Amino acid sequence: MDLLANLYHNHIAELNRRVALVTEREGIDGLVIHSGQLHRQFLDDMDYPFKVNPHFKAWLPLLDNPNSWIIANGKDKPTLIYYRPEDFWHKVNDVPNTFWVEHFDIKLLTKADRVAELLPKNVKSWAYIGEHLDVAEVLGFTSRNPDAVLNFLHFHRADKTQYELECLRRANQIAVKGHVAAKQAFYNGASEFEIQQQYLSAIGQSENEAPYSSIIALNQNAAILHYMTLEHQVPAQRHSFLIDAGANYHGYAADISRTYAFEKSRFYELIVAMNQLQLEIVDLMKPGVKYPDLHIETHAKLAKVLNDFGLASGDVQQLIELGVTRAFFPHGLGHMLGLQVHDVGGFAHDERGTHIPAPEAHPFLRCTRTLAANQVFTIEPGLYIIDSLLSKLDNQAKATVNWQQVDDLRPFGGIRIEDNIIVHQDRNENMTREQGLVD
Ligand code: GLY
Ligand code: MN
Ligand code: MN
Repeated sequence: MDLLANLYHNHIAELNRRVALVTEREGIDGLVIHSGQLHRQFLDDMDYPFKVNPHFKAWLPLLDNPNSWIIANGKDKPTLIYYRPEDFWHKVNDVPNTFWVEHFDIKLLTKADRVAELLPKNVKSWAYIGEHLDVAEVLGFTSRNPDAVLNFLHFHRADKTQYELECLRRANQIAVKGHVAAKQAFYNGASEFEIQQQYLSAIGQSENEAPYSSIIALNQNAAILHYMTLEHQVPAQRHSFLIDAGANYHGYAADISRTYAFEKSRFYELIVAMNQLQLEIVDLMKPGVKYPDLHIETHAKLAKVLNDFGLASGDVQQLIELGVTRAFFPHGLGHMLGLQVHDVGGFAHDERGTHIPAPEAHPFLRCTRTLAANQVFTIEPGLYIIDSLLSKLDNQAKATVNWQQVDDLRPFGGIRIEDNIIVHQDRNENMTREQGLVD
């Protein structure tokens, strides 16, 4: 049997265990999880691309079937209400016949608005989990996305099953192929747009299938943190290339960044130093470590890199306290990864959803959890020349900056290096590098 099918048994058992626990605790009969519905574009007859409810795809890799439902109480075999309309305009998915079908009682639904006939009779004692509260209300659900249930599920989403870890490995394996192709395209002189085409072609996924829109930034564009434009024009000169792009496997995301220098320059040396810094931070990961401490350690290491490269001078504590490291590295070190790129539960410290916010000095940090085995995180330190942040530094901080070096670096934009890491009890698994994206 395929490895994944094998692991899936225990995955479903774990999801059932969680549902049994939470439903008993909350005094409900079970969960009714809605895959979602298509969203019509305003004043148009076309729909936005369908994005499935993450709580639905947690159960099975069915990503493209709106109007479907899972009914689970943790004890009985879950029911899958599988939408299969009669429709000669659109492609209708076949009745599924794959490794997960044996784990569900499958009922076919031909008309979306007839679902009530297949739902439990007493929906008032079941919780609706999904996006369409109006639909839930019409169907008679009084409990819709109850906080207690969502907090419980979100907290436990951090703990990946072996099936989920394997999906994340495979997502990395696919994304790595794209990164190798993109790097080649950059050195061959492609435009941002062309690099993106070659990336997608190598991963074999459309833009809508990929877990997020790629950042493909040449030269100074690499300093724009969420750069989504894909310039068609090839720039007159090529200095640098920052790519942040992922892939999807059974609904699980890879989220990988790399930066390349066109020539062996000072900027190239800086990439080497940032790569080293990133690996050192990964080495600090282990169960019991607090993610914010990794972020703060990154600032300390970055202060040293700024000194080494003459970008700023001052002792580590001074550069941190004056906000100099933050001007060069304004985003968080990373986040949890799974069914969502920024997986839920990053601030949740217990099953009840106790929220621990990011430290005041680091508001963009997306994870404050304490690491545990079988959890998956990105580690993505960066260093950018962002004039709007550098110009806001106070005079004391500005005096530590070597503005000539900043000017020299500006055409290169910035650097980000991002890997996806599984924390195991006794070691870390850097999926990105183990799948072959070494630098
Ligand atoms: N690609 C989004 C991120 O790195 O968080
Ligand atoms: Mn990323
Ligand atoms: Mn990321």
